[in-house]
Amino acid sequence: MNPFIYNIPTKVYFGENQLHNLGKELSKFGKRVLLTYGGGSIKRIGLYDRVIEELRNANMEVFEVSGIEPNPRIESVRKGAQLCKEKNIDVLLAVGGGSTIDATKFMAAGACVDHDPWEFFGADAKPLERALPIVTILTLAATGSEMDTAAVISNLETGDKLGRLAPALLPKVSFLDPTLTYSVSKFQTACGAADIMSHIIEVYFNTQQDLFMLDCFMEGMLKTIVKYAPVALAEPENYEARANLMWTSSWAINGFINGGKRKAWSCHPMEHELSAVYDITHGLGLAILTPRWMEYCLDESNVDKYVSYGVNVFGIDASLDKMVIARESIRLTAEFLFDTLGLQRTFTEVGIKREDFELMARKACRYGDIKGFKTLTQKDVENIFEMCL
Ligand code: NZQ
Ligand code: ZN
Repeated sequence: MNPFIYNIPTKVYFGENQLHNLGKELSKFGKRVLLTYGGGSIKRIGLYDRVIEELRNANMEVFEVSGIEPNPRIESVRKGAQLCKEKNIDVLLAVGGGSTIDATKFMAAGACVDHDPWEFFGADAKPLERALPIVTILTLAATGSEMDTAAVISNLETGDKLGRLAPALLPKVSFLDPTLTYSVSKFQTACGAADIMSHIIEVYFNTQQDLFMLDCFMEGMLKTIVKYAPVALAEPENYEARANLMWTSSWAINGFINGGKRKAWSCHPMEHELSAVYDITHGLGLAILTPRWMEYCLDESNVDKYVSYGVNVFGIDASLDKMVIARESIRLTAEFLFDTLGLQRTFTEVGIKREDFELMARKACRYGDIKGFKTLTQKDVENIFEMCL
């Protein structure tokens, strides 16, 4: 087990009827709040009015940035950072999915510096040491942004979608009410499940063998998704299913399962290039890539990982030949993503074309080979893209 630091002090209010604590929590940081949200789903589900009422009751002065895009753009971040400076904002309240929370994180960081927020990204990124406090109300179980130090921002001008990790970006408080996800569409529910699954698989498929406890934890989380995502699709207002998915989304990426493991991810760097060029939904891109990447990486040296995954997550008969179990585990993963969750299974179906493979693979390897479960060169990434056609 490698040395690691675990320090995720986000305070979580989980469950229904917790929003009456919102004013109290925000007031700890000051009275001037920047409320941020996306394209309007929070108004359609009545959440906006509830939030405004809580803020009024707490005598908060409220400013807003709305219309934050899925795959959030740097322009929204600039707008929010500027407003924070102009209005002397004390605390940011993000209400929405990962896109709203991610954009808000960089508004909060951008408010503390003089340079353009895009300079936080890339090879010559500026230091990110401070951000205004961030509070979130999550409405979609997927990215884990509500409890992690990461955020991913798109820049259409440069054709980049880039992520960054920094402790300053960690939300101070997050409200996780599963009932707020009842209105999430089947498609976004499926994409969210695929995203959570990928966050776990990216860590679970690792050549280190010495973290039995964490492997068991991850298998449990993967089983939770396999069990409850289909329930949430069939019965969108099933509290048990939505609650299990929501809490799994936070724990999949809040730093706990990474502890002591080599951390490089494989499918995420590839997927971010798909979203950068085609603006597709993150979880959908991951779903298409994941089974192909698993197939591409499989060999005699790493087959045991597929065996434990197949046996412990999907219940494959452990007495079968190892390679048979491994191949079956990949087939069942694909079946779950494409048949059970109903996601599209190929690049062709979502309009991703071979002519962009070289560019996307080159950018996926912009910092060198992807050193994950198996090291991937630019050529390997192109080969995996080919398998997705
Ligand atoms: O914009 P609104 O109107 O709110 O609608 C959103 C959006 O259209 C809708 N939605 C959200 N909650 C809803 C709802 N619709 C009905 N009822 C609700 N309760 O769902 C759509 C997608 O929302 P979005 O926030 O884009 O989805 P998600 O949470 O999947 O976030 C995706 C973004 O997060 C990044 C992704 O790359 C992508 O840009 N990621 C962030 C990570 C992180 N911070 O750690 C890690 C992830 O791997 C990922 O890269
Ligand atoms: Zn993800």
